[in-house]
Amino acid sequence: MYNKNTAIIKNDEVMPGHWLLCLDSPDIARAASPGQFLHVRCSRTLDPLLRRPLSIYCADRERGRVYILYRAAGRGTALLAGMRPGDRLDVMGPLGKGYTLPSPGRSVAVIGGGIGAAPLFFLLSEIKAIYSGRLENVAVFLGAATGELLLASQTAALGFSPYTATDDGTVGFKGSVIDLYIDTNGSKVDRIYACGPPPMLKSLSRALGPDIRAEVSVEERMGCGVGACLSCVCKVREGAGEEFRYAHVCKDGPVFSIQDLFF
Ligand SMILES: Cc1cc2nc3c(=O)[nH]c(=O)nc-3n(C[C@H](O)[C@H](O)[C@H](O)COP(=O)(O)OP(=O)(O)OC[C@H]3O[C@@H](n4cnc5c(N)ncnc54)[C@H](O)[C@@H]3O)c2cc1C
Ligand code: FES
Repeated sequence: MYNKNTAIIKNDEVMPGHWLLCLDSPDIARAASPGQFLHVRCSRTLDPLLRRPLSIYCADRERGRVYILYRAAGRGTALLAGMRPGDRLDVMGPLGKGYTLPSPGRSVAVIGGGIGAAPLFFLLSEIKAIYSGRLENVAVFLGAATGELLLASQTAALGFSPYTATDDGTVGFKGSVIDLYIDTNGSKVDRIYACGPPPMLKSLSRALGPDIRAEVSVEERMGCGVGACLSCVCKVREGAGEEFRYAHVCKDGPVFSIQDLFF
């Protein structure tokens, strides 16, 4: 884990209310894996005091660049959106436990909802490399509120043809991405990778049989980002019944097996 004062290379609004941030950080780019996040100080003052957790959208190891795709959701991310190329940004990372990468050729489904699809782009780039570009066993499902917020073109640029769903029906299936997944694919994959809002993960959890492996990334508000403050705890199953222990989303996650979570 590094704590770096990085240079901003780019920070552009790429979809309404969403920015793509590019940072010059060779160490973080080299160390990062899909599903991990950066803890970002969004201002040069102590207001807001806490860093904001943002997933690594992509890491270009050759050029030493790390990308974050974020929605301006509130004060911290709005300040971040105001930063310009050449400004410096204090980031910690890569943090957390990411996705377990599949063995070549295993059939996988990758399901993203809204801005929750951001870390899946990095996952898809890694899968593409592991599978040597043979992508027939990889099904990608993307959902968003409306067509202009789908990450479909970014995914297509990597060589995947995503199934798409929008709440308003402007693009693809009208309805939830989980309903689309069930309609299209059912349960015929070895592993599912997902990231999205809590209702989406809850409905995925209900749709899956007990023997399907699914890894999902969850979001909690965070303080320290490194397991020291307890602000991000969530319950995870201990054993087969209703027994549980508390886990840190920042350190033990943000990626968990869906079977271990309580919804
Ligand atoms: C591991 C992890 C990875 C994330 N990756 C991304 C990403 O790649 N892109 C992205 O746009 N967002 C991501 N988020 C959510 C992002 O952290 C929040 O949107 C951000 O912290 C909001 O800060 P703010 O000051 O702008 O908003 P605030 O003013 O603090 O809050 C605005 C809204 O955002 C919600 N919010 C605040 N903190 C979080 C949080 N930690 N998780 C979820 N919702 C929150 C609040 O409930 C409120 O509705 C991630 C969150 C986690 C935990
Ligand atoms: S954010 Fe402090 S323990 Fe997770």
